Amino acid sequence: MFKIILLVFSFNPVFGYFTIPGRCPDNVDLQEHFRLADFYGKWYQAYHYSSDGQQLNNCSTIELMTRPSGIYVNQSRVDLGLFHRFNIGKLDIPSKIEDASKLDLIFVFKNAPRRLKTRKYPFRIMATNYNYYATVYTCQYSQLIDKHAIYVWILSRNPTLNAVSKELAIKPLQQIGVDTATLVKDDRSQCTPKYYEDVHVEPTTFRFPVPI
Ligand SMILES: *[C@@H]1O[C@H](CO)[C@@H](O)[C@H](O)[C@H]1NC(C)=O
Ligand SMILES: *[C@@H]1O[C@H](CO)[C@@H](O)[C@H](O)[C@H]1NC(C)=O
Repeated sequence: MFKIILLVFSFNPVFGYFTIPGRCPDNVDLQEHFRLADFYGKWYQAYHYSSDGQQLNNCSTIELMTRPSGIYVNQSRVDLGLFHRFNIGKLDIPSKIEDASKLDLIFVFKNAPRRLKTRKYPFRIMATNYNYYATVYTCQYSQLIDKHAIYVWILSRNPTLNAVSKELAIKPLQQIGVDTATLVKDDRSQCTPKYYEDVHVEPTTFRFPVPI
């Protein structure tokens, strides 16, 4: 029953969200010898790419932090120029050292129905030099329509990314079929919104709560 409701609910958006034919790209070269410890702290989203072309928010940042139960990623953003919001995911750290850049993010929504409580998404580090730039992507595949969706973060340690770092950051994108001309530069002109929401909300970069 629930499945049917969910399907009806999500059928339309599925077509808008999953736009690239086939499965997620595989055999993608990720950052070699990735060192999570050097990746810590705050990153600004300098550019992003969303395969469905939606721009849902501005002023996005990503910050890694340690809690007694693990390492978490706080992704914050400004919605509609008015609301400062954030979502927190737990990093699922691969056990094999050679897979160090193959991270996943796990979101837990305590009040959601059982099937939607825990959601896991890839969070793959394609390239980084730790001090200036990082290129991260996620991909979701829909079996229902045999298409996938990609989101790319071009992250910068400083609010603006220098030209050399940008070149290095965008280089790996051809591997996942992202045309760098379609990257959107984040607007940081209005990053002091009126309202701060102090609760963890749904991420906008991973929009499908369950595999479809
Ligand atoms: C997440 O980051 C935002 C922006 O830096 C901050 O306002 C918020 O307090 C952080 N949330 C937590 C739980 O650390
Ligand atoms: C992002 O910022 C631009 C420019 O200020 C604004 O036009 C747009 O509405 C903002 N988008 C969102 C989702 O807040």
